[in-house]
Amino acid sequence: MKEKLVLVTGANKGIGFGIAKQLGLSGWKVVIGARNNDRASEAIAKLASSGVEVLGWINIELKDLEGLEQAAKEVNEKYPKLSLLINNAGIPGNMGVDSLHTDISDIKETIDVNFIGTFALTKALMPLLEENGGRIVNITVPSEISPYWHPLAYVASKAAQNAMMGVMAMEFQQSNSPLEVFSVHPGPTTTDLNGNMSLPGFHDIETVGQKMAELINDGSSHQGEFIELYPIVKED
Ligand SMILES: NC(=O)c1ccc[n+]([C@@H]2O[C@H](COP(=O)([O-])OP(=O)(O)OC[C@H]3O[C@@H](n4cnc5c(N)ncnc54)[C@H](OP(=O)(O)O)[C@@H]3O)[C@@H](O)[C@H]2O)c1
Repeated sequence: MKEKLVLVTGANKGIGFGIAKQLGLSGWKVVIGARNNDRASEAIAKLASSGVEVLGWINIELKDLEGLEQAAKEVNEKYPKLSLLINNAGIPGNMGVDSLHTDISDIKETIDVNFIGTFALTKALMPLLEENGGRIVNITVPSEISPYWHPLAYVASKAAQNAMMGVMAMEFQQSNSPLEVFSVHPGPTTTDLNGNMSLPGFHDIETVGQKMAELINDGSSHQGEFIELYPIVKED
């Protein structure tokens, strides 16, 4: 029987915290990814006081490729039953500029975190997850370009991450791997990432965390899927 043991990256706040909390309350043992001892300890205390079994935290800085190797080694040693990786940590890049005014350094940093670092961590943890018949879930936005909102650095970095999901799912299927990967767009959520914007249509991290826990616990395979947590209903 698979152990319900999850690592959520960027779980010290925002959507990652909401997912860690709701998965924890639904029976998962939780390891949080964070990049600072104080922020990790504060989140662990909050999770524990809500009744979540937190096993510990791993230092995950997605810009530090060597550090990610170390982090994966630590996960293998301390949490050999890991069966779920939630790639949640991410940055917005500069959302206030059009492509002409986007700094190359901003594109590079956003891709380094949201795609390269996310890929490096996933790759490093894949052998362990495969051993445990595990799953990889990415928190993302659609690759399609919306007419209303299209910050280049962010959208490009997430499109690359979405391609990673599609490629891995295809490989897992074609090789009959026990691994599963899918992506989820949580929809607009009030967090630091957007300056805690709270317009109509925005959700809070508790609601998003609950819906994520329901999805993960639904007993179905979602291999290769891109899931809208709040599907847009098109009217005729
Ligand atoms: N909020 C939305 O409306 C929305 C919508 C769609 C998708 N998403 C996605 O949801 C995910 C979580 O976003 P959020 O809104 O919860 O943002 P958030 O509140 O800003 O939280 C981001 C988390 O990622 C961590 N992080 C940032 N840079 C990192 C790095 N270089 N290495 C490792 N961890 C890093 C942060 O750690 P620190 O506290 O140390 O900075 C924090 O824990 C992101 O992937 C985002 O793209 C968000």
